[in-house]
Amino acid sequence: MKKLVFATNNRHKLSELKQILGENFQILSLKDLGFREEIPETGDTLKENASQKSHFIYECYGLDCFADDTGLEVDSLGGAPGVYSARYAGENATYDENVEKLLRKLKGDRRRTARFKTVISLLIDGKEYFFEGRVEGVITESRKGKDGFGYDPVFLPDGFDETFAEMSSNKKNQISHRGRAVAQLVSFLNDEKFA
Ligand code: IMP
Repeated sequence: MKKLVFATNNRHKLSELKQILGENFQILSLKDLGFREEIPETGDTLKENASQKSHFIYECYGLDCFADDTGLEVDSLGGAPGVYSARYAGENATYDENVEKLLRKLKGDRRRTARFKTVISLLIDGKEYFFEGRVEGVITESRKGKDGFGYDPVFLPDGFDETFAEMSSNKKNQISHRGRAVAQLVSFLNDEKFA
């Protein structure tokens, strides 16, 4: 089985990814490598950040690895919070504080269209490949649902009547930004016979 490091400290993402990739790949977490620090993330785009994270781990351990970076783009906020989604309400903001700020900014706004975008950087056999997934939707007026993480309770994907936080993780993975980016990653890895 092919070993791949997923360069993240986010346990939610890790369990989502293991659920999607777990049958064909042995996914190692940063914890499995004994790496407990924050990986620097100083880029201005999702692509730069994903690439910075995968290179950092590749240079430390020399292992094939991938990293993702995700942002929520809200149209009436000019694409914010975007690459700053994790720190929208401040440097160490909680998920709840970020959601609170978003709902406040959109209060009374009828234009609520938004999308999640994920970019994955894969470093394998010394070469880098990128994959992108996105999902369109709207920001609800209040939180709904208890599952998931981040902005899930206020993101209603187009064509569905449940927010990401009301869906099972299986259902979310089938339509989500990360699920779509990972689907491309998997098909690439399978096509290229890396598995
Ligand atoms: P990251 O930089 O890829 O970790 O993502 C930045 C921020 O986007 C996270 O801190 C979350 O607030 C949010 N985020 C990322 N993925 C998701 C998701 O699947 N659902 C909801 N929010 C997410």
